[in-house]
Amino acid sequence: MKKIIITGGAGFIGSHVVRRFVTTYPGYQIVNLDKLTYAGNLENLRDIEHNSNYKFVKGDIVDAAFIDELFKNEKPDAVIHLAAESHVDRSITNPLEFVMTNVIGTVNLLNAAKKYWAGNYENTRFYHVSTDEVYGTLGETGMFTEETAYDPHSPYSASKASSDHFVRAYQDTYGLNAVISNCSNNYGSYHFPEKLIPLSIHNIKQSKPIPVYGKGENVRDWLWVEDHARAIDVIFHKAKSGTTYNIGGHNEWKNIDLIRLLCSILDKKLGRPEGESAKLITFVTDRAGHDLRYAIDATKLKEELGWTPSITFEQGLEKTVDWYLANQEWLDHVTSGQYQQYYEGQYTNR
Ligand code: NAD
Ligand code: TYD
Repeated sequence: MKKIIITGGAGFIGSHVVRRFVTTYPGYQIVNLDKLTYAGNLENLRDIEHNSNYKFVKGDIVDAAFIDELFKNEKPDAVIHLAAESHVDRSITNPLEFVMTNVIGTVNLLNAAKKYWAGNYENTRFYHVSTDEVYGTLGETGMFTEETAYDPHSPYSASKASSDHFVRAYQDTYGLNAVISNCSNNYGSYHFPEKLIPLSIHNIKQSKPIPVYGKGENVRDWLWVEDHARAIDVIFHKAKSGTTYNIGGHNEWKNIDLIRLLCSILDKKLGRPEGESAKLITFVTDRAGHDLRYAIDATKLKEELGWTPSITFEQGLEKTVDWYLANQEWLDHVTSGQYQQYYEGQYTNR
């Protein structure tokens, strides 16, 4: 019997990780710790919320005393840490929020883990989920490997880089059993429509302008979120303490090409004439400090732990578009903020 605290489990990637662990490992107890910010939505986990090996706890990782109590009460064997402020544009407007959650929040969890496990790190694990954005930006060629030097540019990536350094420092200094993975851009179901793919789908559906930053020449390397969750599962169970793995699908797209592809898929699915949705493309002022290109070399993960993506981008994008077309109610709730009332209704009497 293993008890795992998963932080940020009500968010986009976290909900897929929680679902995977709850359903794949009925012998594990999963505690989902989430503050339920604008990005956290318990509707993402409706299908598993009554499973006997799942529990939700509302709380803030910035609150050290609360985290301490949680470790005392729950007695976890492991932590999978995904809670974060995750949107680059928001980090440009409010960097301090990112320092609080991503840096201070992570250090609070590290301190609680160190105190609670008290040097007995055998059969424990602190898994820190990070991003390829810590490596900065690439030119036209090359890829990020686990050896690439950190060079973050946005307040978001600077805060994630800092949290990664703290996790390594706790592993080196105190012997904490820690692993880190750095993943490329994810896409899939339950993705909050402020990020490029869900925002574009949402706007195309409503025939609203699709905002493209700059000339749309920036390149991102896209991975289906369920393949990320599966990689986390593999790394959680197989990686040695102190190791880092890059996760990515060798799937680079210029933003403008990706948006054109989405327009064409949606023209077909919505019965619009080919080319109709592309008329919504609107070039807007570029993001400040906009990284040109990300690309992940995931060779180490493939060779050492045998992970590769399970589906192609075409398959993943098709599934994703279908999901957004079939889940208008979810979209209405997240865009209106109504999902926050779901929590009140579901959990106040428990
Ligand atoms: P998200 O914004 O969808 O979800 C973040 C979750 O964390 C939300 O449920 C939110 O309520 C919770 N949270 C935020 N602040 C909190 C706090 N102070 N205390 C407790 N909970 C808090 O993010 P995501 O896209 O699912 O990303 C999850 C993790 O994966 C992040 O650490 C992110 O850096 C990393 N990551 C994301 C991507 C991506 O493409 N989205 C790629 C690589 C790595
Ligand atoms: P985003 O989904 O915010 O992820 P990240 O910044 O973490 O890579 O953005 C993906 C790319 O799309 C990035 O190059 C910025 C660009 N973008 C737009 O062109 N328009 C938009 O409205 C958004 C949100 C992003």
